[in-house]
Amino acid sequence: MTSTVPVVTDIAYRDLLDDPYPIFRRLREMAPAVFVETAKLTLVTRFDDITKIERDPATYSADNPVSLVNKVMGPTFMRKDGAEHAIGRKAIEPSFRATTIKEHWAPKFTAIAESLIDALAPAGEADLFAALAAPMASLTLMEMIGFEPMPWQRLAEWSQSLIEGAGNYAADAEIERKAMQAGADVDAAIEAVLDRHRSNPNPSILSSMINADPSMPIEAIRANIKVIIGGGLNEPRDAILTLVLGLLDHPAQKQSVLVKPELWPAALEEAVRWISPIGMYPRRVTRSVELSGMTLPQDLQIGLCVGAANRDDKRFADPDSFDISRPKQSHLAFGAGPHFCAGTWVSRLTVGKIVGPMLFERLRNLRLRDDAPPVVRGWVFRGPVSLPVRWDV
Ligand code: HEM
Repeated sequence: MTSTVPVVTDIAYRDLLDDPYPIFRRLREMAPAVFVETAKLTLVTRFDDITKIERDPATYSADNPVSLVNKVMGPTFMRKDGAEHAIGRKAIEPSFRATTIKEHWAPKFTAIAESLIDALAPAGEADLFAALAAPMASLTLMEMIGFEPMPWQRLAEWSQSLIEGAGNYAADAEIERKAMQAGADVDAAIEAVLDRHRSNPNPSILSSMINADPSMPIEAIRANIKVIIGGGLNEPRDAILTLVLGLLDHPAQKQSVLVKPELWPAALEEAVRWISPIGMYPRRVTRSVELSGMTLPQDLQIGLCVGAANRDDKRFADPDSFDISRPKQSHLAFGAGPHFCAGTWVSRLTVGKIVGPMLFERLRNLRLRDDAPPVVRGWVFRGPVSLPVRWDV
């Protein structure tokens, strides 16, 4: 016996942005997939269903001919399946290898973290969003891509404009203009370094792309770099802030990582499970299919809410709590299947092994401010947008 997708009309978009978790719980309890009018999308929220979907890319495709990502960024491997996806993915792989991360990126990223933390240390207080997490994510991504040095704000602005353009379903002309301008700026920044990377192969993503597959068209290089700018900056930024927030809000857990630094990796995994930086990403149903007793029609657009799945109480006990000592259990914050995040291991290193430990070691008695509480927002992307803290100087 199968049923059709129910529709929910009484959710305000603002509530999704402020706190999506009660809404996610309601949707999870209601049905395997629910059309949410305010999101203009059918949302899948259960852990087991998303896992099943990601194991079957022929039925649940990442390729979507009408996707705004293609319009704003160009033809990218992230929105392709099968062989086309594999070509793009393989071309960037040398930059993300374990030995490259350990030997090449780790020392560079440690130096960036040191200079940012040393610069803010004398102040005794800061909002860690702009003072640490955003510049850290931007400067490390700039290095990884292989751009000429530029102010961190510029790459962050390009990233924001591209993301907003890719989500511009209301066709706002100003958002479109900014996204197109950011795209043109990225193209120019790529052009400025191409010859250098061609004649001097190195571990950067641009160099990997050009040298691993010399036949890759420039349009594909541009599109894939734009996807990496859109998808590789906000997530580590938000993971840094969520990790710090989780620990500062739970002093006993903070104490345990300080006493046992080997707990840092578990703390990072718990942070991105608790508040997943990418809360939702899209797929397209390629044939009529049954999902846990419900019929999904061909061509249905669905949103996989990994932020909801990571709080599914059928998978995680007491899922709303931040608990770094919970039993080890895989989560979906880095996605699953063929599109599993390429930046997983580099983020685990940067956030969980470099920035987190260094911050708590160098800023003594780091604490939240009673007079300026943190603000967390978003559902497609979610993280602290403000994290004011103090420490002893
Ligand atoms: C904590 C940090 C991060 C989180 C939580 C995260 C999360 C994700 C998720 C959920 C996906 C799947 C999206 C989809 O299938 O539509 C993804 C894909 C991807 N991520 Fe990440 N990401 C992070 C950091 C990074 C970084 C730092 C980079 C690059 C330097 C990166 C590069 C990518 C790429 C290239 C893909 C597309 C993979 C493919 O389609 O094969 N990510 N990420």
